[in-house]
Amino acid sequence: MGIARKRNRFSVLVVVLLSSCVLWGQANARSDPTGTPTNLTAMLTGAQVVPPVNTSAYGRVDFTVHHFKHHKDDSATYTISLYEVNHLVEIDMHQAHERQNGDRVAILWGPSPHGLKNEVNGTLTTGTLKRDAFSKGPMNKKDLNEFIKRSANGDMYVLVTTIEYPNGLLRGQVALADNTASSAAAVPGPQPGPGKTPAPEPQPAAAPTPGT
Ligand SMILES: *[C@@H]1O[C@H](CO)[C@@H](O)[C@H](O)[C@H]1NC(C)=O
Ligand SMILES: *[C@@H]1O[C@H](CO)[C@@H](O)[C@H](O)[C@H]1NC(C)=O
Ligand SMILES: *[C@@H]1O[C@H](CO)[C@@H](O)[C@H](O)[C@H]1NC(C)=O
Repeated sequence: MGIARKRNRFSVLVVVLLSSCVLWGQANARSDPTGTPTNLTAMLTGAQVVPPVNTSAYGRVDFTVHHFKHHKDDSATYTISLYEVNHLVEIDMHQAHERQNGDRVAILWGPSPHGLKNEVNGTLTTGTLKRDAFSKGPMNKKDLNEFIKRSANGDMYVLVTTIEYPNGLLRGQVALADNTASSAAAVPGPQPGPGKTPAPEPQPAAAPTPGT
């Protein structure tokens, strides 16, 4: 009987210890974000698709990255709005600079393989990105801090595909929202070297003035 009682006490102790761990974990997960969130935006147009698409459709995606003590705990919320988009199939993030096509790194919405029946004209959805959102291509296992850095470097874009435009109807480079440019400048980590800066847009040569 003495042994049984000891064993019981031991089990109670184990249960108490385990539940403390669970509670501690939950409290930690719930801990408040630190610092100012980083806002990023992608303005979606047909003109940015490579090659360009002539469409009256347009849209935008707004991201807010909430920072935690450890970068790996960072999470982002996003809102997708699309206008005049027919037969929507999927909305993804890809990695590449403007005028280049790159690998898909995350799915933001979809897929809807047969395309949405109704035209989308307004806010489509809100969603959440966590570290495990980047499970594909060159961003595999990368976190949201890496997403911010690559976006600041102009190396991240959103692509909207439809039944009629499987290679993209709309595209937009993800950029830091103006109001968070200063907080994003404080993001630690290696900054892109001068070699990685995209070449400036080629300027058309000045037309020679016709002689008289
Ligand atoms: C960042 O975006 C969130 C969500 O849209 C907004 O509430 C907040 O005001 C934005 N932050 C700044 C500094 O504009
Ligand atoms: C785009 O489409 C509109 C409407 O069909 C047309 O008027 C316009 O010329 C087109 N623009 C280009 C650059 O093809
Ligand atoms: C789509 O939304 C825009 C902006 O709210 C509006 O001006 C336009 O009339 C709408 N188009 C349709 C087809 O509902």
